[in-house]
Amino acid sequence: MKRILTGIKPTGTPHIGNYFGAIKQAIELSKNEDYEALYFIADYHALNTVKNPELFKKYTHEIAATWLACGLDPGKVMFYKQSDIPEVFELNWILNNITPKGVLNRAHAYKACVEDNKNKNLDPDSGVNMGLYCYPVLMAADILLMQSNLVPVGLDQKQHLEITKEIARYFNNTFGNFFVSPEEYIPESVGTIIGLDGRKMSKSYGNTITLFGDEKMLRSQINKIVTNSQTPEEPKDTDCAIFKIFSLFANSKQIEEMKEKFSKGIGWGEVKKQTFEVANSLLAPMREVYNYYISHPEEIDKILENGAKKARQIAAQTIGEVRKLIGKE
Ligand code: TRP
Repeated sequence: MKRILTGIKPTGTPHIGNYFGAIKQAIELSKNEDYEALYFIADYHALNTVKNPELFKKYTHEIAATWLACGLDPGKVMFYKQSDIPEVFELNWILNNITPKGVLNRAHAYKACVEDNKNKNLDPDSGVNMGLYCYPVLMAADILLMQSNLVPVGLDQKQHLEITKEIARYFNNTFGNFFVSPEEYIPESVGTIIGLDGRKMSKSYGNTITLFGDEKMLRSQINKIVTNSQTPEEPKDTDCAIFKIFSLFANSKQIEEMKEKFSKGIGWGEVKKQTFEVANSLLAPMREVYNYYISHPEEIDKILENGAKKARQIAAQTIGEVRKLIGKE
């Protein structure tokens, strides 16, 4: 059976951009009977940005509760924490030794830091640690260890998948054909999710709508969506943040009705009210599940431990073969 795997980095409280841009599609895919699915929390990748132990734990639980609330079935999907799979880190070291430094010099995230430093007249490697530099190798270890066939990711991860394939090739050329070459799966249907200010929704822009905040938070964030000064009577252009956000939650009939109202004239306050209504009716039942898990973190831990147990069976098999291939055993 083909294997599908993806990693989720716990670096912040999830927002609706994460849901509509990645989580929703990944969960649908995980229900496909033709695949064995492994979805994991890339907590040691997050360590590069999260250096506060309380936050580290909090984000991990929040991400796990989010995926469960969005419909991940831990009976079907092996759902685990990266840090619970020691084989990942052994493979990571082995892969370090066949990865040319030049490949990592070209990685976007590292290169962006260096460029930024140069522009500020700083040392090119100022603030760059080895976790950032070697990030793509750890990701290759996550993927190759499980002999993954398909890896659903966002467009921003395309280069990491290319590096993974390159590393698999280097290994196979050095020690014999062993690793499966993974394919990235970047759903085309997923456009950019627009944030409160009309730019791409992103934590770094501070323009997000929290996925599982309470109703009051949801309402107040929706009220912050930037509109213009048109009066309620004026016909309005649907090419705007509020219409796009409304459309994420609404069904096609509701979208058509809203289009009609835009052309006839509707007040922004009323649009926001209706946006809250559709958003809340979709999110409320999921929020309930989310809140349940957040108040029962021990259940989350149990699910993740169980997932790790299953995933480690695959990991043990792969690492056993790798040890033989390199001559350790
Ligand atoms: N780098 C990914 C991200 O930032 C997270 C990740 C870590 C991942 N390991 C992975 C994704 C393996 C897919 C497969 O989103």
